[in-house]
Amino acid sequence: MMEKCSNNKSFIVFPLLFCFLLFPHLLLSLENDYIRGPVRELVTTTNHRSDSDPQQVHISLVGKDKIRVSWITEDKHTKSLVEYGTKSGKYSSKATGTHTMYQYFFYTSGRIHNTVIGPLEPSTTYFYRCGGSGPEFSFNTPPSKFPIEFAIVGDLGQTEWTQSTLKHVDSTNYDVLLLPGDLSYADSQQPLWDSFGRLVEPYANKRPWMVTQGNHEIEIFPIIYPHGFKAYNNRWPMPFEESGSTSNLYYSFDVVGSHIIMLGSYTDFDDKSEQYKWLQNDLDSVDRNRTPWVIALLHAPWYNTNEAHQGEGESMRQAMEKLLYNAHVDLVFAGHVHAYERFTRIYDNEANSCGPLYVTIGDGGNREGLALNFKNPRSPLSLYREPSFGHGRLQILNETHAHWSWHRNNDTNSFEADGVWIESLINSKACTKTQEKQTSHEEL
Ligand SMILES: *[C@@H]1O[C@H](CO)[C@@H](O)[C@H](O)[C@H]1NC(C)=O
Ligand SMILES: *[C@@H]1O[C@H](CO)[C@@H](O)[C@H](O)[C@H]1NC(C)=O
Ligand SMILES: [Fe+2]
Repeated sequence: MMEKCSNNKSFIVFPLLFCFLLFPHLLLSLENDYIRGPVRELVTTTNHRSDSDPQQVHISLVGKDKIRVSWITEDKHTKSLVEYGTKSGKYSSKATGTHTMYQYFFYTSGRIHNTVIGPLEPSTTYFYRCGGSGPEFSFNTPPSKFPIEFAIVGDLGQTEWTQSTLKHVDSTNYDVLLLPGDLSYADSQQPLWDSFGRLVEPYANKRPWMVTQGNHEIEIFPIIYPHGFKAYNNRWPMPFEESGSTSNLYYSFDVVGSHIIMLGSYTDFDDKSEQYKWLQNDLDSVDRNRTPWVIALLHAPWYNTNEAHQGEGESMRQAMEKLLYNAHVDLVFAGHVHAYERFTRIYDNEANSCGPLYVTIGDGGNREGLALNFKNPRSPLSLYREPSFGHGRLQILNETHAHWSWHRNNDTNSFEADGVWIESLINSKACTKTQEKQTSHEEL
């Protein structure tokens, strides 16, 4: 459709008008000479392996030097065994984990296995096999010191755009993927959780994927499933106990000089809540000598100049922004809005060189399409905004410097459309100056 619109040069005015009526985003996209693609088809991924073979294999970090392998078998008798080692086909170590399953109305999940393996060496390739047979997989452990590279994608879904985003992310040799919510867009259709698991497996089985929840993970059904998150908590367990959290919906972890905080936009966050108390303790315990970078992720953005989802993150911002600010959190990533937007450093709706830099990256490729309309005039706090699918890369080079870039999807490649150098706040001269200014102001 899009090609027809742009290639049809013989009847210029009328067909163009017609095209723009049908696809108003084409008109918007002329602003920066980039023709934005329309929503693409849902991709469902079927299982080609045997019932006892692992499927939907993904890994996540656990503590300092361990990894959790999560996978599913149709077979209800397969053991939660993971064999692993540094040579292909030779498994010098093994571990047995736990298994579970869940029901959602008439759907019964396969056997969901979780096995923690390690201790593992940093910057090392491990080969592994699940359940005692079946295909071999491999992953790389993160390094032990800088640099480290994070891939960041939100609102991923399972469409042809998702496939293209994943391909571009995969070409980067990142260390850890961070996902600020909205994974499968199953929206209670449980088999879509399985096909999502299969779609992401080739990527998530070779690098740790660390996720937090979005609204599409809730899946509450009144009276029957009042607490929600049934599929999410069973399929995507994250290392919450290790950070003193009592819920899979919020947790933190350390990796190479970075303390990453995964917050829950869809659980209680007011100052009486468990999450609030946990966050306070977690921030108090950060040692900036060990982790000079502190990064938070959550789903519904606290700052957003898109017309979509206005105000949805506001009560959480009012409850928690001060905690993050006082703790000098460097960056806050959000999803939910299906577009890319980068802000300046902010505290309480004003530019502040000691506040976190805010990024919305809800443009992984979901089936709902893009959030095309940004509010005008543009707020001076918003420095770059664009409704296109894509992904982000955060390369932390050392204690003081990181490079953030956003890569718009293109069919064959991805294109770095936005990039910025970031100085860590604890070492930032601009922030130290502001603090001095504030202090002297108070003295006056
Ligand atoms: C950190 O990396 C930046 C960018 O490459 C560089 O300019 C700076 O000198 C580095 N600082 C240290 C302490 O290595
Ligand atoms: C997409 O990729 C093609 C081929 O590399 C390139 O010519 C084009 O400029 C790219 N478009 C964008 C928007 O990045
Ligand atoms: Fe969302």
